[in-house]
Amino acid sequence: MFSISFRMAAVLLGLLLAAPVLQVSSGPVRVARNATVPLVLWHGMGDSCCNPFSMGALKKIIEEEIPGIYVLSLMIGKNVVEDEENGFLLDVNTQVSMVCRQLAQDPKLQGGFNAMGFSQGAQFLRAVAQRCPSPPMRTLISVGGQHQGVYGLPRCLGETSKICNIIREVLSRAAYSDLVQKHLVQAQYWHDPLNDLYRKYSLFLADINQERAVNETYKKNLQQLEKFVMVKFLRDTVVDPVDSEWFGFLKAGQAKETETLQESVLYKEDRLGLAAMDKAGKLVFLSADGDHLQFPEGWFHKNLLPFLR
Ligand SMILES: *[C@@H]1O[C@H](CO)[C@@H](O)[C@H](O)[C@H]1NC(C)=O
Ligand SMILES: *[C@@H]1O[C@H](CO)[C@@H](O)[C@H](O)[C@H]1NC(C)=O
Repeated sequence: MFSISFRMAAVLLGLLLAAPVLQVSSGPVRVARNATVPLVLWHGMGDSCCNPFSMGALKKIIEEEIPGIYVLSLMIGKNVVEDEENGFLLDVNTQVSMVCRQLAQDPKLQGGFNAMGFSQGAQFLRAVAQRCPSPPMRTLISVGGQHQGVYGLPRCLGETSKICNIIREVLSRAAYSDLVQKHLVQAQYWHDPLNDLYRKYSLFLADINQERAVNETYKKNLQQLEKFVMVKFLRDTVVDPVDSEWFGFLKAGQAKETETLQESVLYKEDRLGLAAMDKAGKLVFLSADGDHLQFPEGWFHKNLLPFLR
């Protein structure tokens, strides 16, 4: 009951806030603007497509700043409850296929789109770029994504802390068992640097990061991006190691020292095309001075909006 009335209040408030923008957008200057590139958003763990405090609010901000833009905030499942649960429990490869189908069927996206993923949503969108080249993704913005996975789950945000504790327990004991891999999202980007189990048994991350074999299709598709922007949070207490947000990780065989993307085998052998993209000026490394996914609206306007105009 509370949540319904709250949602209605949020919608009404949104309409009120949107009113002056609508007037601006119907003025002659806006009409003269070219059509904007649509934007696809993929939320993080413990969040949903339409949470009025996070993705819903962000969608509104973007729509106000870029009048006429089509923003699709992905819902994985039939409703927001399923969407949030699936972020913990639905096999990532299945989620990526579902999203590929949805994008292929959306008439508004057929000319191409930009994509912005939050936390795990960022590496999932990269998988979309690598596996499903049509319709074409133009710029991918990863906000706190874990492109080399995580080795630790120190803290979860908000109400989801109980489920996070359970997940941490399971991951530390059995991340690479088939059952856990198939049914626990976080296990699919769990990256244990101390042994070879990750490379052999990770169903998702080891595949898209070309750990077992080099899939030339992945390499070719990823390089179709115009830009691949990665945002790292300098005071992140959620992602471990935080270097993963810039595609770095712990050096293999130990759990202390980290290496940058440029120092990694992935880059040196250019197994994914990232070195070529770097040389072509397509990789953009940004940092935000906050905890995981915490940034002031002004930072977003200054640093990320320019990629969407
Ligand atoms: C708008 O699109 C036209 C046709 O594609 C192009 O020639 C023109 O430069 C564009 N204008 C702006 C401001 O991007
Ligand atoms: C490479 O990736 C493409 C796209 O997902 C897939 O269709 C193909 O089967 C993969 N090839 C190999 C050898 O795994």
